[in-house]
Amino acid sequence: MSQTVIAIDGPAASGKGTVSKAISEKLQFNYLDTGKLYRAIGAQYLEGRPPIDAAQSLNISDLNKYDLQKPEIAQAASEIALIPEVRAALLEFQRNFSKKMPGAVLDGRDIGTIVCPNAKIKIFLTASLKARAKRRYVELYKHDGKISFETILEQIKERDKRDQTRSSSPMVAASDAKIFDTSALSIKEAVDKVFDYIQTKI
Ligand code: CDP
Repeated sequence: MSQTVIAIDGPAASGKGTVSKAISEKLQFNYLDTGKLYRAIGAQYLEGRPPIDAAQSLNISDLNKYDLQKPEIAQAASEIALIPEVRAALLEFQRNFSKKMPGAVLDGRDIGTIVCPNAKIKIFLTASLKARAKRRYVELYKHDGKISFETILEQIKERDKRDQTRSSSPMVAASDAKIFDTSALSIKEAVDKVFDYIQTKI
C-alpha cells in the first residue's frame, strides 16, 4: 500500500492548524502539529533548560506537560526555532512521524522544503497580516481579556520576520506547493478548498 505525506506550511494564524487537523480527520491520516515541538522546547527553555539539550531529548509526552498555547511560550518557540542544532535534532522525529501508515499530515513552516521535500502533496496557507492578527486576537482574548489587538499584530509581524529571515530553514513556500490565501475564507471554506485540491492529487 502506498503511503501519502501531506505537508501544510504557512505563517502564524494562517489557519494551517485547523485545516490540517480537519484534513487528517477526513482522510483518517495521522496528524502532527510541528509547532508544538518548538513550543515544548520553548517552554523548557523558559524553565532554564538549554534548548539544544531539550530538543535532543524531546519525548512525545513533553507535548502534554505544558499549556503550549500561552503567548510567552509562542514567543520563546519562535526564538529557539532560530537555532540550527534545535532544528536538526527535531528532523528525525518529524521524518519518522511522516512515515506512519496509511498517511500523515504535518503542519509547520519548513515541512515541504526541508522535513519532507518528497511529500506527495504540498500546501502553503497564507492570509493577510490583519486577518491573521484578528484571528489570534479572538483566540487569545478568551484567555486574557486585557490583551490588545495592536500588541498581537506587532508580535505576529515580529515572528513572521524571524521565520522568513532565519538562515536555517526559513519559512518559504516550496516551489511545488499550492498556495491558498485564507484571508476572506471561513474555516469551512478553507477546509473545503484544500480538501478539493488534495482529492485531485491523491
Ligand atoms: O501558529 P503559530 O505561529 O502561532 O505557532 P506554531 O505553528 O505553534 O509555531 C510556533 C513557532 O515555532 C513559530 O513561531 C515558528 O517560529 C516555529 N516553527 C518552526 O520554526 N518550524 C516549524 N516547522 C513549526 C514551528
